[in-house]
Amino acid sequence: MIKVAINGYGTVGKRVADAVAAQPDMEIVGVSKTRPSFEAFVAKERGFPLYIADLSKKGAFDKLGLSVAGSVEEMLKKADVIVDATPGGIGKENLPLYKKLGKKAIFQGGEDHELAGFSFNSDCNYRDAIGRQFVRVVSCNTTGLCRMINLMDKAFGVSKVRATMVRRASDPGEVKKGPVDAVVLDPVTVPSHHGPDVQTVLPHIDITTMAMIVPTTFMHMHAVQMEVKKPATKEAILNLIEAHPRIGLVRPGTGIKSTAELKEYAMDLGRPRSDLWESCVFADSIGVIGGKDVYFFQAIHQEADIVVENVDAIRAMMGTVKDAAESVRMTNAALKFTAI
Ligand SMILES: NC(=O)c1ccc[n+]([C@@H]2O[C@H](COP(=O)([O-])OP(=O)(O)OC[C@H]3O[C@@H](n4cnc5c(N)ncnc54)[C@H](OP(=O)(O)O)[C@@H]3O)[C@@H](O)[C@H]2O)c1
Repeated sequence: MIKVAINGYGTVGKRVADAVAAQPDMEIVGVSKTRPSFEAFVAKERGFPLYIADLSKKGAFDKLGLSVAGSVEEMLKKADVIVDATPGGIGKENLPLYKKLGKKAIFQGGEDHELAGFSFNSDCNYRDAIGRQFVRVVSCNTTGLCRMINLMDKAFGVSKVRATMVRRASDPGEVKKGPVDAVVLDPVTVPSHHGPDVQTVLPHIDITTMAMIVPTTFMHMHAVQMEVKKPATKEAILNLIEAHPRIGLVRPGTGIKSTAELKEYAMDLGRPRSDLWESCVFADSIGVIGGKDVYFFQAIHQEADIVVENVDAIRAMMGTVKDAAESVRMTNAALKFTAI
């Protein structure tokens, strides 16, 4: 069993912890918090040992009946792999400790590519992650872009991508973040960081991105235009997506044309936390003009798509499963997950 510590049990960390705990070849040795907020009670409910960064705060946890197993450093020592899911920028502060302890660690998209020196996506570069000490799982938006671009590139060759990201303002639990009533260009300048981030995984892809933030918490929406080298048809693209384990099709028959309905659908399907681990491409939005210009919309559940990638990254770094497709199959099967 691969022993996994989750350093930072928040939006991403709690999801990765559940996904890891569901795998037949992995176990959680601990999760960490800095303060006794509601996620600490979730950890207790799940039976995950709870560790804290500052042991002088143990009393605050004790008072609430939350038993503290020890310090974060003690937790890290028990792990084969650490999933660092602390807020963006904290991973950089944690790296020296991981190095000192000689541990493998996975960072999230809030950290720079340079921190780990390797950015990961299961479809694109699983093999290159085998045996690595440090890996960064790219952000939710970059993960969504990489999946579709890589799929199209393998089938038709992609000569150019132009994409606009309409991003959710905050996660549902983040009560203090906005905007409440504005469309914020983030950034005003072009390109946004998403294109260069895709190139950390797929360096040969010509991609330019723009991004804005809108007052919603559910999901991101991408409007993607792509130029392909070999002629493509809508039917061929639909078939490719049908066969992909982590790209789902929002089918016209469902009547879904918004992120709100999509999340409601995931809730009705009984997905944990109504998570959509797959990218959700709107089937009706796929358009091919002149055989070479491809257009589509895809919705990306920011809190979820990177969760399954973290699980695969653990296997790749440990070298226990050499084949990406096999790891993806194992991860999805353990979560009882088939793309919509
Ligand atoms: N949220 C998303 O949709 C999303 C999607 C893709 C990637 N990411 C990336 O994933 C990473 C985590 O984001 P998140 O949204 O999950 O953040 P989050 O919800 O704020 O959770 C962060 C967790 O880290 C803990 N923490 C804070 N400071 C810490 C420290 N110094 N040492 C150890 N733990 C600490 C927090 O504990 P306390 O609450 O106890 O302080 C909290 O449990 C970021 O790099 C982010 O960019 C996020």
